[in-house]
Amino acid sequence: ELPSIVVPKTQLEQVLDDKTKKKVTIFYGTQTGTAEGFAKALYEEAKVRYEKVEFKVIDLDDYAADDDEYAEKLKKETISFFFLATYGDGEPTDNAARFYRWFTEGDEKGVWLKQLQYGVFGLGNTQYEHFNKIAKVVDDALTAQGANRILPIGLGDDDHLIEDDFDTWKELVWPELDLLLRDEDDKNATTPYTPYTPYTAAIPEYRVMFHDKPRAPTLDRSLTNRRDVHDAQHPCRSNVAVKKELHTPESDRSCTHLEFDISHTQLSYETGDHVGVYSENQIEIVEEAERLIGLPADTYFSLHTDNEDGTPLGGPSLQPPFPPCTLRKALTKYADLLSSPKKSTLLALAAHASDPTDVERLRFLASRAGKDEYAKWVVANQRSLLEVMEAFPSARPPLGVFFAAIAPRLQPRYYSISSSPMMAPDRIHVTCALVYEKTPAGRIHKGVSSTWMKNAVPMTESQDCSWAPIFVRTSNFRLPTDPKVPLIMIGPGTGLAPFRGFLQERLVLKEAGTELGSSILFFGCRNRKVDFIYEDELNKFVDSGALSELNVAFSREGAVKEYVQHKMAQKASDIWNLLSEGAYLYVCGDAKGMAKDVHRALHTIVQEQGSLDSAKAEVYVKNLQMSGRYLRDVW
Ligand code: 2AM
Repeated sequence: ELPSIVVPKTQLEQVLDDKTKKKVTIFYGTQTGTAEGFAKALYEEAKVRYEKVEFKVIDLDDYAADDDEYAEKLKKETISFFFLATYGDGEPTDNAARFYRWFTEGDEKGVWLKQLQYGVFGLGNTQYEHFNKIAKVVDDALTAQGANRILPIGLGDDDHLIEDDFDTWKELVWPELDLLLRDEDDKNATTPYTPYTPYTAAIPEYRVMFHDKPRAPTLDRSLTNRRDVHDAQHPCRSNVAVKKELHTPESDRSCTHLEFDISHTQLSYETGDHVGVYSENQIEIVEEAERLIGLPADTYFSLHTDNEDGTPLGGPSLQPPFPPCTLRKALTKYADLLSSPKKSTLLALAAHASDPTDVERLRFLASRAGKDEYAKWVVANQRSLLEVMEAFPSARPPLGVFFAAIAPRLQPRYYSISSSPMMAPDRIHVTCALVYEKTPAGRIHKGVSSTWMKNAVPMTESQDCSWAPIFVRTSNFRLPTDPKVPLIMIGPGTGLAPFRGFLQERLVLKEAGTELGSSILFFGCRNRKVDFIYEDELNKFVDSGALSELNVAFSREGAVKEYVQHKMAQKASDIWNLLSEGAYLYVCGDAKGMAKDVHRALHTIVQEQGSLDSAKAEVYVKNLQMSGRYLRDVW
């Protein structure tokens, strides 16, 4: 018998192999990480199902440096999935914005993606007007440009159970991928391909190293103020300079005015921009988490995404870890402890539970059969991660699992900046209503960021003041370049924030002798004596002529509720005249109720004042929107 010889592959054979190797690219456009999580979940499961196929999961922003590169690379894709969240007022997420503009708004590209088989899963919320707009637009654009949709678009609804929407859509993916990816070899093979169940799925886990606590605090290198550009990954440390309560003592609610000091930093902003703020969990919450994890607060550790020999960890993809620190600091700054756990979190808890009843119940809650129970017990009751851990005392995951699969990363919160750099170049002002409510399960839920702001210690009170990593996000909420253009502003509650910035800018212009167009503001609150925020300032804007007219709707003073849209109806002819003169109309605040109602009120005003039928009124309002004269900053 001849000895068997392994002949090494020639370079050519290797190249051919690589060329014929099937590839699948999974793209994501994510704001808070959900789309990224789904993209990675699909990736992990797909890798197990199709071992010979090369899968990649890619942040849309990292895919290409410019439009040409997008085109160059996309032309070579053969099978792709897109996970696309819709954000705010029907906008793409920051990391998908460049791709979105190029792909859907640029020149007609023709039919050039015939080689591409694709699927789209959208993440949106039915409470908002433009439900899953981004996913729908990209889905249509892909088809229009010749790509072949292999399964219907998935429309995830975050108002309900978006993980279920994803699971349902994912089940439609596999039969299609089987057709595309399982070659003749596989199909004839006697062994079936690796079965996959959620319970056997690998659970993400960092490698953890415990250290002696260093004597000097280590620097968080992502937090250096010596950068030219700050963004969500590279925030800037800023001190809280001023803090004020805006409600009167009679109020049973609270609204904080906060000023971040940005002097001696590279941060700058424009009137109408947003600020992203990384805040911290309250100490009671952190202590509760320490108790549940069962480790002392001063446990000093680091997280690693590689093995000790430097090779990357196998298994599900992990976020970049945070710098070495104590458990107290990690829980304070990096862990989202108060959101409701996702089903994947429940499975990770189940995998580390010792009591079989805990395992069974956790798996049931995460299963299809337990769908209604999950909707009720977890979601409707707004049970936080900590409440759920409390309820399953035997589920005690190690630190590497806790930070990889149990507690999501604490996300920055965005606020419409309530100052203008013309008046406050060294400060970023924030106007933040306190989130404080009792959940159906009886827990008092205190919003992470608003509670942090309410409790912040400003420079005016202590040298050792509060600070936060912050960054500025550009918005399209901009004043017209010509200050003579009239303005109509609608912003009840904290929706007033950007208009305070607008009016500060106009005041500075006015004082410098600039001629201003007229401006009208609709503000709404409950009661003049309780929550009429910035009342004195608004009156001063009127006195100085920066604001021509102030209309306030008090919703809880009289027997009937009066809202901003009612005030608008009373001023219908003025609004119509201003629009006819080319006014810009701005709406800021709650998207679910107010902005929708205001939109309807505007439609009615246009219809009645312009003597148009409903369809023509709609075209008129659409045109306002398209020409950038009807802008919304809603959340
Ligand atoms: P309410 O709380 O009395 O219902 C700022 O939050 C103001 O906006 C409050 O006066 C609030 O009134 C009001 N508001 C609530 N829902 C609204 C809606 N759908 N449209 C306009 N204003 C609304």
